[in-house]
Formats: sequence, structure tokens, C-alpha cells
Amino acid sequence: MRSLPLFLSSGFLILSLLPQAGAPALPGVLTRNFDVLAAAPSLTLEYKFRVVGESPADYKLVFSRPGQFRLTTPTGYVVSDGKVVTTYKNATKTYSQEAFTDGWVNTFAKRPEVQAWGAFLQKDPASSIEAAKAGQSRNIGGNEVTEVAVSFKKLPTVVTLYVDKKIGIARGLAASIEGKDYLVMASSITIGKDPLTTDGFAFVPPEGSKKEDAVLPATFASVQALMNDKCMPCHDAVNRKDGVDLSNYAGIVASVTPGDPASSRLIKSVRATGRDRMPKKADALPEAQIKMLEKWVQDGAKP
Ligand code: HEC
Repeated sequence: MRSLPLFLSSGFLILSLLPQAGAPALPGVLTRNFDVLAAAPSLTLEYKFRVVGESPADYKLVFSRPGQFRLTTPTGYVVSDGKVVTTYKNATKTYSQEAFTDGWVNTFAKRPEVQAWGAFLQKDPASSIEAAKAGQSRNIGGNEVTEVAVSFKKLPTVVTLYVDKKIGIARGLAASIEGKDYLVMASSITIGKDPLTTDGFAFVPPEGSKKEDAVLPATFASVQALMNDKCMPCHDAVNRKDGVDLSNYAGIVASVTPGDPASSRLIKSVRATGRDRMPKKADALPEAQIKMLEKWVQDGAKP
């Protein structure tokens, strides 16, 4: 692959960039790249994503206004309908969901597999750039490109975009992030004249898939929220099934042995099988929630 020596030479190039005060003057080729991305109603990309030292993988990324996208990789996909982002993992058939916000977009746009085109979704992609400099012209796979070396504020990331002279946007990039090198090169780029239909961006849980619960920090606030959600009304101050009151700190602590989850009544009850398993008459707690309870007990069951 010819891109590796390219990448090394552009890493060299970035050393000559000096951080500037205020907003940096961006090279015209980069401004145009952002303008073309901002104006595109939709964008479909097929590309090779490669962590240098590993074999390349086929990725597909489809964007459509407003805020819709689908990134398909060999291990799963990330899909946004413009309101909710769902990340699905093939191996475990599990998915998690987050709100689609500007903050989420800015983090997503910095992922090496997305960064060449993440500006499609960003309100102000130039604002996180510390410095950018246009370099050599090259021919990559029959396409004339201009190298643009970009460095970012508060990020140890060095990126070289390969901006296609004809279509005006990046064909790919070489990036170095926290000691890992990445290469991204598109085999097919389609800028759509219209937004795409919404059905490609709706998440429908695949048969047999399971939603992952957000993993809460192991604090008493999380424990109390879980007890309120799953153990009431059977263990409130009035019902106190088996004398167990889980409605307040004193009651919860009385049912555990701080520092020793394995011998704690509360932990045993959620790990039990059959009729003894808590919560009674309901599904078992997800493993992540039980682990959170165990960690809280292990850490001393503090208020
Ligand atoms: C639908 C009612 C109900 C719910 C909900 C419920 N429990 Fe219970 N729990 C009981 C009953 C009834 C008992 C008495 C023992 C029995 O019948 O198995 C009990 C007993 C217990 C005991 C004492 C068991 C022992 O052997 O020491 C613990 C600890 C406990 N529950 C914890 C929980 C926790 C933690 C939750 C929530 C994750 C929960 N329970 C949810 C009804 C409930």
C-alpha cells in the first residue's frame, strides 16, 4: 500500500506547524472541504479502515440530513435517526442508546474511522482545529489529492487529510492517535443531491438482541435508585418483607457486610437462583447492575 510512506512523510510535515493565537487561517482546500460537506444533503462512503499493523477492514458510512447516519463495520453498527444514536455489537447481540447531541457528534467526529467526513454532522468543525497546512499534491488510486496536515486543540492527534481536487472533500486520511496509526481510504464516495429516506436510519432491534443498561457508578445514590426501582414496594418501611427495609441507607447497610459482597444477604438474594432470587416475581437484575452493587459493598458500603 502506498499510503504508509505518505503517512510517515506527512507526520514529518506537521512538526513544522506552529500553534497560532486565536482562530487559525485555514488553507482554502480545507475550508472548501468543510463547505462541500456542510452543503451535501447526503453522503455515502465505502472505505478501508486500517489500524497500521493489522489487516484492513471494510467500512461503510452513510450520512443524511438532518443528523442521520449509519456506520457499518465488521463488528457492528452505529445508527442515528437524528434524535437517538444506537450502537449495536454483532458478537453479543447487544445495543446501547444515547441522545444525539452536539457534544456526542463532536466526540464521534474525532474517531479515526469517522474523522475524514465527521464534519458532515458538526456545526463548526473548524473550531477544534489548532493549525492546518496544505502540503503536496499526489495521485492516490487514480485520484488527484492535496495533503492537508491538521492538528487539534487539546488533542494529541495528528491527521493528514487527502482532499480530492475534483469533488472537494477528503478521500481518506492518515492519523496518529495516542501511539496508534490509522489509515482510511475510500473506494467509493457519493454526494447525494437529496437527503435519503429515513427508513435506513431507524433502529429496529434485531431478533434476539438485548439492550445494555447504562452502567452506573458504584455510589450509594446509584444503589438507592436501583432499590427504589426494583425492590419496592415489597421492601419499603411498611412491607419490610423478611424484615428487610431497603428504603433508606440504614436498612440497606443492615443487609450487607461492608467489604464482603459474597457474604452479604442483599448480594446473595440477587445472585440466588429459583424462588429465592430477588427481585421476586420479576426478571433478574442485569449483570452490570449486580456488579455495581458488589463494587459498592466491596468499597465499604459508604453513604
Ligand atoms: C414482589 C415483592 C418483592 C420484591 C420486588 C423484592 N422482594 Fe425481596 N423479598 C420478598 C419476600 C416475600 C421475601 C421473603 C422471603 C421469600 O418469600 O422468599 C423477600 C426477602 C428478601 C431478602 C431476605 C432473604 C434472605 O434469605 O435473607 C432480601 C435480602 C431481599 N428480599 C432483597 C431484595 C432485593 C435486593 C430486591 C430488589 C432488587 C427485592 N428483594 C425485591 C419480596 C420481594
